[in-house]
Amino acid sequence: MPLVRESPCKINLLLNVLGRRPDGFHELETLMHPVPLCDTLTFELAPAGAGASVPVHLTCSEPTLPTDAGNLVHRAATAFLEAAGVRDAVRIHLEKRIPLAAGLGGGSSNAAITLLGLNELFGQPLTADQLRPLAAALGSDVPFFLHSRPALGTGRGEQITPLDFLTALRGVHVLLIHPGFGVSTPWAYEDLARFPEALNGRPGRARGLAVLLQGPDLRLAAGELYNSLEAPVLEKFPVLALYQTFLRSHGAIGALMSGSGSTTFALVENTDKGRRLEVKFRERFGDRCWTAVVPLRSG
Ligand code: C5P
Repeated sequence: MPLVRESPCKINLLLNVLGRRPDGFHELETLMHPVPLCDTLTFELAPAGAGASVPVHLTCSEPTLPTDAGNLVHRAATAFLEAAGVRDAVRIHLEKRIPLAAGLGGGSSNAAITLLGLNELFGQPLTADQLRPLAAALGSDVPFFLHSRPALGTGRGEQITPLDFLTALRGVHVLLIHPGFGVSTPWAYEDLARFPEALNGRPGRARGLAVLLQGPDLRLAAGELYNSLEAPVLEKFPVLALYQTFLRSHGAIGALMSGSGSTTFALVENTDKGRRLEVKFRERFGDRCWTAVVPLRSG
């Protein structure tokens, strides 16, 4: 029987860059929240003899994505089989729904769910402590997706402190808007060098926002949403700043770019408000954007 697992995405309620590190990465603090807009991954053992020399067979619904080691799922599967000492071959199918290069962590989620899915398929040969470094080696956002909980991320984003679901977000939905173009994450971080204030943020903001969201007042907390990477990205793509102004003036409690973009998210009280805002947004900005209204799970 194939094992089928959902691979959710995330938003960054806050992403505060604290400086450039000697290894070229950036030190940051972030508050991430899972969003149940999901890709689907299917895992099964390859029939004996079918894949002795090629241990990972990956297929994908999205033709523009590679299915070899250029795909994080493939790399995650190879890393898992090696670390677990498994000699069988596996087949994996990825059904893509999360937009690409979107700041929603789709590829990172796929990698983490591959580690968890294969560990389940083979009877849990690796412990959580063994999976964590494998995840971190695959990408800064991958360890977050080993937990399906809101979390603080520090270091380059890979050091995760899971949190309880946040009181102020109970019932809250997000309107996600992808403008139809992607943003390169390395470029966004590199271009931060032109914005010294955004590059060298004041530490403590992520925990501060988490504390506010543990209280009852979402409007108070929404004033603290922040993303350092908006400095370069909104300058290059001013339409994303127009989105935020429009969303805030048409009922969003808060609006922000997620990760390195290009997705904008708006927080709304419930699904009806989300749908109404989505309609208004599409009337104003046209139908070329991808949009979705999704509940933020709150426990
Ligand atoms: O870790 P990940 O592979 O997702 O990072 C992609 C790129 O984003 C890195 O190569 C680096 O250029 C940039 N990055 C960074 N600082 C971080 C995370 C990512 O500079 N904390």
